[in-house]
Amino acid sequence: MPNPTLPDGDAVTLPRARSHTPTTPTTTPAARAWWRDAVIYQIYVRSFRDTDGDGVGDLAGVREKLHHVRQLGADGVWLNPFYVSPQHDHGYDIADHCAVDPVYGDLAEFDRLVTDCRLLGLKLVLDVVPNHCSSDHPWFQKALANGPGSPERARFHFADGRGEGGQLPPNNWRAMFGGPAWSRVVEPDGRPGQWYLHLFTPEQPDFNWRHPDVAAHFEEVLRFWLDRGVDGFRIDVAAGLFKHPELPDSPDPDVDERTRDSVNPLAWNQPEVHGIWRRWRALCEEYTARDGRQRLLVGEASVPTPAEQALYVRPDELHQAFFFHLLHAPWDLAHFHRVIDDAVRDITATGSTVTWVLNNHDQVRTVSRFAGEGPATGPARARAAALLMLALPGAAYIYQGEEFGLPEVLDLPDELITDPIFHRTGSRTGIRDGCRIPLPWSGTEAPFGFSPSESPAAPWLPQPDSFAAHTAERQRADAGSVYHLYRTALQLRRELPQLGEGTLRWLETPPGVLTFVRGEGLVCAVNFGDTPAPAPVAGPPLLASGPCDGGVLPPATAAWWINSTSTDRSS
Ligand code: GLC
Repeated sequence: MPNPTLPDGDAVTLPRARSHTPTTPTTTPAARAWWRDAVIYQIYVRSFRDTDGDGVGDLAGVREKLHHVRQLGADGVWLNPFYVSPQHDHGYDIADHCAVDPVYGDLAEFDRLVTDCRLLGLKLVLDVVPNHCSSDHPWFQKALANGPGSPERARFHFADGRGEGGQLPPNNWRAMFGGPAWSRVVEPDGRPGQWYLHLFTPEQPDFNWRHPDVAAHFEEVLRFWLDRGVDGFRIDVAAGLFKHPELPDSPDPDVDERTRDSVNPLAWNQPEVHGIWRRWRALCEEYTARDGRQRLLVGEASVPTPAEQALYVRPDELHQAFFFHLLHAPWDLAHFHRVIDDAVRDITATGSTVTWVLNNHDQVRTVSRFAGEGPATGPARARAAALLMLALPGAAYIYQGEEFGLPEVLDLPDELITDPIFHRTGSRTGIRDGCRIPLPWSGTEAPFGFSPSESPAAPWLPQPDSFAAHTAERQRADAGSVYHLYRTALQLRRELPQLGEGTLRWLETPPGVLTFVRGEGLVCAVNFGDTPAPAPVAGPPLLASGPCDGGVLPPATAAWWINSTSTDRSS
């Protein structure tokens, strides 16, 4: 494929394409599928690039900057929801699953994006949100209008309240984003009536997945986007969908609200959900059988243990599920060691590969999450963690801005915070605006090339002045930048057979240093301690996350070496 020329005249040097993408229309064995060790770049469309000057990112902006993703060396992109939505949870409250919200563009623009991804050799993964919809969704509006006992109500969880006149919710569950998990409706006759279940916000009613219409609807949604050419789906709250059939009271009703996670065993992780993933997998296989292109289902399945997560990635269910135990790990050697070990053992045993992730649109960015004493500690640890993640066996996800070393923005004034968690709880714990600040592309002041310079509207969240040091322009010009670290690491992943899928063996090293060998002698070591440690391999490393000339591994630093004496021949 010739290198495309960019609109601004920049010639793109494309990294070598991966060689294991199937080209013949046969059912390629899953063992060779592209997703097994892919690096996928997550695009939070709202904050990626705004081309029409309304202060909100759009699909045209994704198209315009797609070459950035390709140059970085990722294999594909995952787009957060861009469907029609009143935006109570920035697109995770969907009113029409098969249409583009006008703020982001239209279907014609989406189709052009599919073509561009194809031309650049990037896989395109969309977000699908099956647990709930928007309260503006036509099904929910009909359920409200048609009253208790109507067939339309049966597609959601409507129930009479408890107590005198039904003024108490049907059970004691609390929503993850704060407040009761039930809201009461006003019936068509104007009287207070039934309650409906919402595990997130009242604007996100949960579907009743025991109703056949719901499963049928989502199969149509998947087909709609597959027919337009997408390569797969990231499945929102994949441990959701089914609730305990009796919806009983919980002995620990606010556990989800307290932990901001899907923990209530009556509300999540019900066995019936696996039947849905089998149907979706079969649907994907049907498309692969037609054209030989492997599709991907990657689940946001937040469940208590790696062993439980393994159930979601059995050979006839989801292809992969994000491994969040690494993302939740503190900067601590023993913790990292344990979760990596558990993941490699439990997930690999299913035949799938581990899907590593350190940042996403819901989490405090690593630069701030790993902050320690001194302003340099967080950035150094974040760089080291990235190099560690990219050396692990399996697939990896990079969240936009991670490659610019962006920190979390922690000082947004209350009146600018948009996260429903803040508005429902009054607390900043777990709020997500700080990792969703519009990306800085160029220049020395806001909007840093996020919006056109003459834009009528400011970016939907303000960018701090400190973003000037993190623009793509500055990062590209600095050979020692975070951007170049990621780019080189991704290039090496393409070139070195040891990286990507394969074996991992731990090596004995000094206290505070985590060291493992991949395949034929690729050694990765990370110094979690506060003092320099002897390097496990003599000589300068192939790549290091910070200054490291060899012999010594400085604190908060990771490095890769090739060492023929560290060959791993175990299977
Ligand atoms: C997932 C999404 C999050 C969203 C929630 C409700 O956890 O990642 O952003 O708010 O689901 O859909």
